[in-house]
Amino acid sequence: MNPSRRTFLKRAASLGTAVAGASLVSPLVGSLEAASMVRVLRSDGAVDGGYDPWIEVNPDHLRFNAGEAARATSGRPIMAVVKNNGYGLGLEEVGPTLDQAPEVAGLAVVKVEEAHRLRDAGVRKPVLLMSRATVDEARELVRREVRLAPFSDGDGERLARLANQLQRPVPVHLYLDTGMSRLGMPHHRALPWIEEMATRPELEVEGCFMGFTEDLEYDREQLRRFLEVGREARSRGLSLGHLHAASSRHVTFMPESHLEMVRPGLILFGAQVAGGREADVLELRPALRLRARVLRVERLRPGDSVSYGRNYIAGDQVWVATIPVGHSDGYPREAVDGCRILVGERTYPVIGAVSASHCVVEVGADRTVEQGDVATLMGPDHPDIHPNEISEITGRSVYDVLMHLSPGLPKREWAASVG
Ligand SMILES: Cc1ncc(COP(=O)(O)O)c(C=O)c1O
Repeated sequence: MNPSRRTFLKRAASLGTAVAGASLVSPLVGSLEAASMVRVLRSDGAVDGGYDPWIEVNPDHLRFNAGEAARATSGRPIMAVVKNNGYGLGLEEVGPTLDQAPEVAGLAVVKVEEAHRLRDAGVRKPVLLMSRATVDEARELVRREVRLAPFSDGDGERLARLANQLQRPVPVHLYLDTGMSRLGMPHHRALPWIEEMATRPELEVEGCFMGFTEDLEYDREQLRRFLEVGREARSRGLSLGHLHAASSRHVTFMPESHLEMVRPGLILFGAQVAGGREADVLELRPALRLRARVLRVERLRPGDSVSYGRNYIAGDQVWVATIPVGHSDGYPREAVDGCRILVGERTYPVIGAVSASHCVVEVGADRTVEQGDVATLMGPDHPDIHPNEISEITGRSVYDVLMHLSPGLPKREWAASVG
């Protein structure tokens, strides 16, 4: 085990509820209850919900993490970033819950379609589109109270025309580029543009924001540029609404960037950016589980191989179990490099190869797993299946681990036990 992984597990053990530690079973999964649920399944053969994989989302954990973000930022309002299908958890699942969290002032996405999906799901707080919309799209978005994020020359004119057509002011958050060179009006020519935007009666400037490069040294310079523009604009009497910049990493490690609103995504879903340091400061509870039921349990004979490429050859007789989750569902191919899957109270190593729709675990000399048992591939129930642990083992960014989960995976209510 590499040192950082060991550190992570040690910390997880001390965190208790964030990721279960000493007993290696979360309080969410009472071990006796878990065992009896599995047994019930075995005796009556019931397979509740079938064998297709699913995702469970925990609204309490979303609310808890939002509370942690607010605590870390002395109660700053949160613009919750839920882009890319709510970081893989499902926009319709996370949107309404975060909408109702008192710490959350609004929700942000980067796709027009996702802004509509939030409204369709009943989200009532402001929704910010951190991207560009065509005039036709913008008309519909403004009708639905979605805030636009202009960043180009000519946007003032364009949005003023729209406001006149709609006979109402268009609410905006001005997007500045302080060094990311991706989106935003470049800071060095932003002042006259801000002046134009902020003095147009057709526009209602509710906020002004930037994105960090996440190179913490350079981030300080970016913040300096942002504050300088903001200060100068305000000294000219221009109203900028809330200034916001801080994403998850800055919520935790850069208090001077908290400003008047913060804009985290990842930590709301219970993961930390990288290297495990957020969890030293915040208690984060993974808000999803990736689950499926065991499809087949078989005993291999010595010399039998597993999956494509025959990367695993049985030395002795060994039980293996097949789980119907693969890389097309978003479970990383690299999981064979050390990831484990929780069944009952124990985790088992992924072996062979992760194929498009299946993976296989080595159960061992004893048959401790049965067809129909619930397998949890990712979630808060054990340190081995924490999203950050999967990220560390597979070498994939934790953003990939979450956001690459297939949007087609059905969502089910959070189960209080493994059965
Ligand atoms: C503009 C912007 N703000 C905020 C965030 C939230 O970042 P994080 O998930 O690291 O908190 C993102 C996500 O990448 C983003 O693109």
